[in-house]
Amino acid sequence: MHIVLSFNQSVAEEDDQPPSLKQLNTQHTPQDLYAEWDDIETIQAVAEALGQEHQVSLVNADLDAFAKFRALRPDLVFNMAEGLYGGSRESQIPAMLEMLQIPYTGSDPVTLGICLDKLRTKEILTFHQIPNPAFVQLRHASDLPVHFNFPVLVKPTLEGSSKGITDKSLVHNAMELQIQLDSVWSGYQQPALVEEFLCGREFTVALIGNGTAVQVLPIVEIDLSTLPAGANPIYSYEAKWLWDTEIAPLQIFHCPAQLEPLLQRKIEDLCRKAFIHLGCRDWCRVDVRLDASGHPQIIEVNPLPGVLPRPEQNSCFPKAARAAGLSYPEMILSVVNAACERLDLVEKNDAHRCLL
Ligand SMILES: Nc1ncnc2c1ncn2[C@@H]1O[C@H](COP(=O)(O)OP(=O)(O)OP(=O)(O)O)[C@@H](O)[C@H]1O
Ligand SMILES: [Mg+2]
Repeated sequence: MHIVLSFNQSVAEEDDQPPSLKQLNTQHTPQDLYAEWDDIETIQAVAEALGQEHQVSLVNADLDAFAKFRALRPDLVFNMAEGLYGGSRESQIPAMLEMLQIPYTGSDPVTLGICLDKLRTKEILTFHQIPNPAFVQLRHASDLPVHFNFPVLVKPTLEGSSKGITDKSLVHNAMELQIQLDSVWSGYQQPALVEEFLCGREFTVALIGNGTAVQVLPIVEIDLSTLPAGANPIYSYEAKWLWDTEIAPLQIFHCPAQLEPLLQRKIEDLCRKAFIHLGCRDWCRVDVRLDASGHPQIIEVNPLPGVLPRPEQNSCFPKAARAAGLSYPEMILSVVNAACERLDLVEKNDAHRCLL
């Protein structure tokens, strides 16, 4: 098949930034501006994986993306583009592809839009009685409902990659809460979500496939006891991007997680349910934490999971895939296969393999 890899590349040099992001930078320069986007090494690794079985073209998902897809008309787009601007940015490329009737991997614009909005995601989880931490969207600490007990976790409603979730996001009183609410508002121009803090073990769960046949890969435990002394027990921006470096990696992941069979099954079932009820397709990574009673709850759902290629980069989805015996290319091609089965492109996919 002819597959287009669609991506947003993170830019290291100021001068290489797209003009409107440059303008944005003059107003606010959060250090995490590009945290969601993929680096060139990841883009190349995914392209090479796809290239093992397919003809591959690259499309940077910039303002000219629509015209590029329209001209190329591939059989399938492998979509890992996080989008450019706004709270529905992850939906932008899939929406264009639907308009052009070009099939693509992964979730549709509705699911991508919902999962980037943690409030909407939690409303859907709650409707389906899928346990998740109690939540409220707030601007003023004085409006915190009485049923919340400190500490609580404060996060931007519309971000990922721990953008806006720092060591200070776990707050212990109304004064700290107001500081964090102000910080989310000024840093991200969006309302903050305040959540009950789940104090138990943390896991992240990779899934590949579709519907009830979706496959749960070995569960990754995030061992928060490996964070520097004095750090709060959260997988914060500092933990992900500043304290865990390639030169001095934290031994923060255990995969497969050591779990009682019953708890393992509970976590797997919970993640499958979240995947299905949120309408996820082909692949996804679900974050889970145990509450004070040891029951698993969903923290959030990532239908465009990060896939840094080298093991020392401590990327959860590839780690789970490795534990399942899948090499990096096999992991990427499994996502393609899941999409092909869903789209009934199997014959085309197989025909191409026979020609190789
Ligand atoms: N309600 C909560 N209770 C306990 N810990 C939480 C809660 N919400 C978030 N956390 C901690 O903060 C971390 C980041 O939160 P979350 O997963 O919502 O952010 P994210 O930016 O979407 O992450 P990702 O990098 O997975 O996209 C979690 O991994 C967890 O350690
Ligand atoms: Mg997360």
